[in-house]
Amino acid sequence: MTPPAVPAALGPLAALFVEDPDAVRAALRQFGSPLHLVFPQAFTGNLAALREALDRARLGYRICYAHKVNRSAAFARTAAHAGIGIDVASAPELRSALDAGFTGDRIEATGPKGAGMLAAARAAGVTVNVDNLWELETLAGLGATEVLLRVSGFAGSAPSRFGVDLAEFGTALALLVRHRDRVRLRGVAFHLDTASTAERVRAVEECLALIERAYAAGLTPTVLDIGGGLRQVFTADPTGYDAYDHALRAGLLGQGPVLHWGTSTFGYHVADGVVHGGAVFHKYANTDPAPALLTELLTAPLPGHGGRELGKVLADNLLELWLEPGKALVDQAGITVAQVEFVKRAGNGARLVHLNLSRDAVTAADQEVLIDPLVLTEPAESAPAGVYFAGHLCLERDLVTQRQVRVERMPVPGDPVVFANTAAYHTDLSAAGASMHPAPAKIAAVWHDGRFVLCPDADYRPGAR
Ligand SMILES: Cc1ncc(COP(=O)(O)O)c(C=O)c1O
Repeated sequence: MTPPAVPAALGPLAALFVEDPDAVRAALRQFGSPLHLVFPQAFTGNLAALREALDRARLGYRICYAHKVNRSAAFARTAAHAGIGIDVASAPELRSALDAGFTGDRIEATGPKGAGMLAAARAAGVTVNVDNLWELETLAGLGATEVLLRVSGFAGSAPSRFGVDLAEFGTALALLVRHRDRVRLRGVAFHLDTASTAERVRAVEECLALIERAYAAGLTPTVLDIGGGLRQVFTADPTGYDAYDHALRAGLLGQGPVLHWGTSTFGYHVADGVVHGGAVFHKYANTDPAPALLTELLTAPLPGHGGRELGKVLADNLLELWLEPGKALVDQAGITVAQVEFVKRAGNGARLVHLNLSRDAVTAADQEVLIDPLVLTEPAESAPAGVYFAGHLCLERDLVTQRQVRVERMPVPGDPVVFANTAAYHTDLSAAGASMHPAPAKIAAVWHDGRFVLCPDADYRPGAR
């Protein structure tokens, strides 16, 4: 039995790009193989949709693009050109933001920061989203800094290593009051690693209470920053996802063909004849686009505020909503194209399709991707089959897919293989340079006058042709 297909959703630009295999091969010849492609126009489209959702809620807001999703200069420049803010999580990201045209007043520094990053952030005049009390004291020593205070430890949310625990808020507030002439509290922030609107609503209510406490202490915060976490849509067919997940679990139980490689079980384990645990790849099942999730949040009733809508409560209290979307802004704004080197059969009978890239170049934090790569192969007499895509590193673990993927025809050397929706974290979060393989080139692809204009990501300038 061949595994069920899990077709990837392809945004309009990605679909246009891959519909002409000759053009794809020409791009690989021109810029090298493999290639990461980014579509700045898809970024702009995503931004417009988020802005529309926020405008409908009639509240003041600031969108800070979370640079960490992708190193791309094209995305950073597109964000700068569009007039939004940017969230930087390291000194190199801060430099990249400044190079892209952001001024300090449109930059926010998040994440844990060392002394060097704090000094650089202060020198550039950026708002520092403070992670801990040491950062706050260090900034007070440096002086003249605007800050958000990131908090964590909300009831019902997973423990977080980031932010000041709610129990320490009083200590942070005392520091902010004591150093009010050197550090100005602009607002309160959180970032939750979840898609749950209910959890975000609880966090917002907690933060509104903290803002009240800050007012009572004589401070004047005006910002509530809800971080990122708006989701992407990867799948073209959620029933394909469900069918694959079902077949995978049947294989784990020995009740169907084995679809996983070796000991990779993707968060599942078998005990007493039952599959337990949750799949690490569950995000690939999502069908709710980010603007819809944002609207759901903005219109969610706040129980502590008479059930009034979250957006209205913020607007009525003259609070500005800040958000730091990363993956939502680059959803469907990038693909990766590799090529087949050769196909072989392993000792266990598995068919391995070897590619000229490694797992870490298309996989975020080693998590399995549950959408299928798309093989651009020539029509040939060959039946559908289940294959593992293998990477080019001398490491047993370098299987690009640690699960069998259905291919309609057996690929042959040279066939381009397209990985969909790779712009958020997949290409840049874990990529290493093992075995001296160079990183794939990153190319910006812009649709203009009925064709794609390609240029190295570093050379892309919004508005220029
Ligand atoms: C503080 C902060 N803000 C924003 C983001 C971006 O999140 P996402 O890509 O889920 O929108 C992250 C991601 O880790 C983060 O840590």
